[in-house]
Amino acid sequence: MDYNNILVSQNDNGITTITINRPSKLNALNTETIGELHTAFAKANEDITAKVIIITGTGEKAFVAGADISEFANFSVAEGAELARKGQEDLFDFVEKLPTPVIAAVNGFALGGGLELAMAAHFRIASDNARMGLPEVSLGVIPGYGGTQRLPQLVGKGRAMEMIMTAGMIDANTALSYGLVNHVVTQEELLPRTQKIAGKISRNSSVAIAAGIKAINAGFIDGVDGFKAEIDAFGTCFGTEDFKEGTTAFLEKRKASFPGK
Ligand code: COA
Repeated sequence: MDYNNILVSQNDNGITTITINRPSKLNALNTETIGELHTAFAKANEDITAKVIIITGTGEKAFVAGADISEFANFSVAEGAELARKGQEDLFDFVEKLPTPVIAAVNGFALGGGLELAMAAHFRIASDNARMGLPEVSLGVIPGYGGTQRLPQLVGKGRAMEMIMTAGMIDANTALSYGLVNHVVTQEELLPRTQKIAGKISRNSSVAIAAGIKAINAGFIDGVDGFKAEIDAFGTCFGTEDFKEGTTAFLEKRKASFPGK
């Protein structure tokens, strides 16, 4: 499929890389890009051979410098609310709930919607030049793609309050110390290191990983008992071919070869 704003590639190990490719706008997320990302994530998720998805940005300067400000500068109250609702539904919640693991390789500025996209991914790895922040209040608005919810989940309420109120940026090592990213590496190492971790994930049972994502996410949904969700997801695993293969391979002292079912 041809896209105008993203590039999609898949390697032999089932790792799909989606690269946001609007370098002249520092990969800012306009409506068309959000639509293309939705399609690419959905397609990769439907593809049984795609085991892990990496999301990153073109170039060495920006992961994503935010939502495209030029698109919404004249929006009304209703249009603003609809922008956030549709964006959350099509991309940010969609990515977080995806059964296929998503890793954000944060290669530069991750601001506003860019940091929100990285936070919707299942975890994050940053290059040492990355700078992260939610600058929306400097524009007279607040984060609308889940930032007020996911940032406190990841860094704690006080740090999230400070980041959102100051509209400031933190560097990669501060993000590491906050737990916002899991690893910081050089620019050159960013994709190889992310691919290495993705490769490790891809050797495990994809259906068990999907059950794990669902159970972890359940604990962050209001009114849902995460422990109960874990029990259900745990039980489900016992009915899968992957479980049979994983336990049999262990008992036969060989490496498991998971069918992914
Ligand atoms: N939306 C639309 N366009 C954006 C953008 C955004 N979020 N971020 C950057 N761009 C565009 C700039 O307008 C500029 O386009 P132009 O060359 O046609 O004028 C181009 O990307 C390069 O950005 P520029 O500002 O010249 O680069 P810089 O190195 O001087 O500054 C940033 C980099 C990231 C500090 C700066 O671009 C910035 O503050 N961007 C907005 C960040 C933001 O507030 N995001 C949250 C949006 S809700």
